[in-house]
Amino acid sequence: MSNPTRVPFLDLVAPHQELRDELLSVVNKAFDTAGFIGGPMVEEFEREFAAFCHSKYCVGVNSGTDALRFAFMAAGIGEGDIVVTVPHTFIATTEAISQAGASIAFVDIHERTFTMDPMKLREYLETRCDYDAAARKLVERKSKKRVAAIVPVHLYGQTADMDPILELATKYNLIVVEDACQAHGAEYYSEKNKTWRRAGSMGLAAAFSFYPGKNLGACGEAGAITTDDAALAQRMKMIRDHGQAKKYYHDIEGYNGRLDAIQAGWLTVKLRHLEKWNESRRALAHRYHHLLSDVKEFIEIPVEAEWTRGVFHLYVVRVRERDLLQSYLAEAGVGTGIHYPIPLHLQKAYETLGSRTGDFPCTERIAREILSLPMFPHLGHAEQDEVVRKTREFLGSRVASVR
Ligand SMILES: Cc1ncc(COP(=O)(O)O)c(C=O)c1O
Repeated sequence: MSNPTRVPFLDLVAPHQELRDELLSVVNKAFDTAGFIGGPMVEEFEREFAAFCHSKYCVGVNSGTDALRFAFMAAGIGEGDIVVTVPHTFIATTEAISQAGASIAFVDIHERTFTMDPMKLREYLETRCDYDAAARKLVERKSKKRVAAIVPVHLYGQTADMDPILELATKYNLIVVEDACQAHGAEYYSEKNKTWRRAGSMGLAAAFSFYPGKNLGACGEAGAITTDDAALAQRMKMIRDHGQAKKYYHDIEGYNGRLDAIQAGWLTVKLRHLEKWNESRRALAHRYHHLLSDVKEFIEIPVEAEWTRGVFHLYVVRVRERDLLQSYLAEAGVGTGIHYPIPLHLQKAYETLGSRTGDFPCTERIAREILSLPMFPHLGHAEQDEVVRKTREFLGSRVASVR
């Protein structure tokens, strides 16, 4: 039998206890005005989150999945289109593509960064598709479908390598929608623009999730889309609200995908703490790096590429005997996670795509070896030391040179 958890994988209680009065005052405010849907609290959050992301507009919606789906739909992506993304992500990325009516094409991730490999993207676009320069249209040879968009996923809080991805998108007239659901506040150094750019400000649009465990989490379900395009923002507002811009005047069919006022109010309170929490995650990540640096040969610590300033939504190490280490830590009361154990192209849900083992070797390799260690802003040094001590103890039991 395993011990009671001594170091949780994630502590959601502490940050909420700390902000208890502020968060409860949001509930009181909504209670007094009965303004539960839309209204000033949603607008205030949208303004503040857009500013945080260095973006012009933010549209609050009810999940990250809807954020992606509404962005695709508003950008005109649907049936007959292909959207290119990675097989190493949460299934919501691809669900949103299918739910918008489009087809999924995968390209592999980069071994070091776990995000979309721009070389693999280029290979797909240039060897499996034909570009009609006059029509500015890229068509996948096998399916004859138009390749319409690319979705780089800023996984674990680190941005994808955006310069080459955006360059390919421009060259082939493709839309880029960032999946920034795990990357609130992450930054990318654009060599091209000679400046740091925030996740959410680089593509035509970007999707964020505020699922409670995210770096910025609601107290329930919530999401948002950022964009600099006023017309796109307007369309997304209509899509989230039954296709209406004015009450009961429905220009299109839409969805019930709005952000609740209470969630927006809570998010505004928590947004004011996000920079501090992200800094704390970064400091903890660097402390993990340091404490594990001499056993790097046996446990690979996350690579922070020179072009990213990550916000460590997750701290993901790579280790050959991953399952054994996970069990060992569980026995010692240390919570861990695997994000994600089965690559999307090998999931039952995507059997019909016809992918096979071996199609995306990098994703498949790392899916067998990754382990997410406890990472949250309130993780104490003593708790972190315990995670490291138990990890080293496990490695020491396998490799004589590790103490
Ligand atoms: C990479 C990624 N994309 C999309 C989503 C979907 O967000 P939500 O759960 O808010 O629908 C998530 C959330 O778990 C995610 O991690």
